[in-house]
Amino acid sequence: MIAVSRADPAARAGRLSILVASVMTMPVAADRGRGIGTRALAWLTEHVFTTAAGASRIEGTTRQDNVAMRRLFRRGGYVKESHYRDGWPDPDGNLHDAIGYAILRRDWLAGTTTVLRWDDEPA
Ligand SMILES: CC(C)(COP(=O)(O)OP(=O)(O)OC[C@H]1O[C@@H](n2cnc3c(N)ncnc32)[C@H](O)[C@@H]1OP(=O)(O)O)[C@@H](O)C(=O)NCCC(=O)NCCS
Repeated sequence: MIAVSRADPAARAGRLSILVASVMTMPVAADRGRGIGTRALAWLTEHVFTTAAGASRIEGTTRQDNVAMRRLFRRGGYVKESHYRDGWPDPDGNLHDAIGYAILRRDWLAGTTTVLRWDDEPA
């Protein structure tokens, strides 16, 4: 799942709009591991940031054991921001953890990666 977050000057909080669901299900099994996903995510990221002027970030979520998708996010400049325990139910009713990633427009523009501080819990 991919979502876009837009900073709305007229609102106190940013606005979140779901853009694409399961866009990364495109390569058929035989074509996986050949770079199609990497190119698709790069295209999607560029398309959003160049056509949606107010988009400040793009978010994506995948299942914890989806190694290919997680590598895809990291290779594309996305940073892990969240870990949702039991956040991804499968069709058989089993619960899996879900992992959230995001890329910032300013990082995408500068070719940088803003590292997240995980140890910010108040005492
Ligand atoms: C996830 C998916 C879109 C990746 O597409 P792809 O074309 O295979 O991706 P790429 O070839 O660009 O590879 C991306 C990374 O995944 C890795 N990868 C690919 N297939 C893999 C596999 N079966 N197991 C482990 N890693 C794998 C690649 O080595 C690469 O990692 P690297 O950057 O460290 O070298 C594709 O595997 C897929 O469609 N999966 C099923 C649907 C799905 O999981 N969608 C996402 C829902 S959130």
